[in-house]
Amino acid sequence: MTNLSITINGIEFRNPILVASGIAGYGTEWDGLCDFEKLGGVVLKGVSREPWAGNAPPRLAETPSGMLNAIGLENVGLDAFLDEKLPALEGLDTVIVANVVGRTVAEYADVCEALDKHDRPAALEVNVSCPNVESSGIAFGTNINTLTEVVSACRAATGKPLWVKLSPGVSDIAPFAATAVDAGADALTVANTIPAMAIDVESRRPVLGNTYGGLSGPAVFPVALRLVHVTAHAVDVPIIASGGAVGWRDAVAFMLTGASLVQMGTVLFSAPAAPEAAVTGLAEYAERTGFKEVSKLVGALINKG
Ligand SMILES: Cc1cc2nc3c(=O)[nH]c(=O)nc-3n(C[C@H](O)[C@H](O)[C@H](O)COP(=O)(O)O)c2cc1C
Repeated sequence: MTNLSITINGIEFRNPILVASGIAGYGTEWDGLCDFEKLGGVVLKGVSREPWAGNAPPRLAETPSGMLNAIGLENVGLDAFLDEKLPALEGLDTVIVANVVGRTVAEYADVCEALDKHDRPAALEVNVSCPNVESSGIAFGTNINTLTEVVSACRAATGKPLWVKLSPGVSDIAPFAATAVDAGADALTVANTIPAMAIDVESRRPVLGNTYGGLSGPAVFPVALRLVHVTAHAVDVPIIASGGAVGWRDAVAFMLTGASLVQMGTVLFSAPAAPEAAVTGLAEYAERTGFKEVSKLVGALINKG
């Protein structure tokens, strides 16, 4: 029997498959559709200091092999998250990771500080792709200085493992990965949705109410795979892959490339049981190829040349 467990930042995951942020809501919305107790863990929907209303509809659009979303990180805010959402997960036997969003550095830090006092989230994943309202709306994670500021402030606010979820919309992810680690990240999530848009040619209007959205699903998998590969060569902290994984083959590819954990997101909308099937497939692959511990797959890629 293959040992499927993976430990990063002192947290033991029963297997490397997690549900990505924003997909499973606050963890209770998918009751009966996806058994989170069979997975390594669940990353909850992003939470901000105050409630956010999100963007104007339409917020979703289907694309070839993927989808666009411009939800705008609608969420209930910190108070309701602490009072209602986290307590609702009390009996759930899986690792819970909170996802932190903000419009200013202080907002991010305040959320991290409040979550630090709560024993349930095992780790905090910081989504640095939010627009920085103090710097003409440029995403924190696409500028080295603002990335340093936001990660340093979050680091000072929490002793919990800090995962920084990098933005894919940069020309070279390596310096951003190194910057996040220097500022205190314990692990990096690579990456996020890719900035994109769709147009309805009949109405001659953008499909999304927000004009721009984020592309996710199988269409982005090869892009995410390369970003994981580049990041794994740039830094020494654990990597959590996010982008387009639909099954065990993608999970194995991400792990061989250097990811310790693999998040699955968009695929759940069409196949809620896909993460469970990925765990089974991963175990069979490891067994068949002689890996007694699935952790040994991490970075086991045989590079060309
Ligand atoms: C509807 C939707 C909501 C999302 N909400 C969040 C969020 O709150 N915080 C975050 O960091 N990422 C969020 N994401 C990004 C996903 O966590 C994931 O990184 C991305 O979709 C790529 O993975 P996938 O192709 O497996 O979906 C969201 C994605 C979708 C499709």
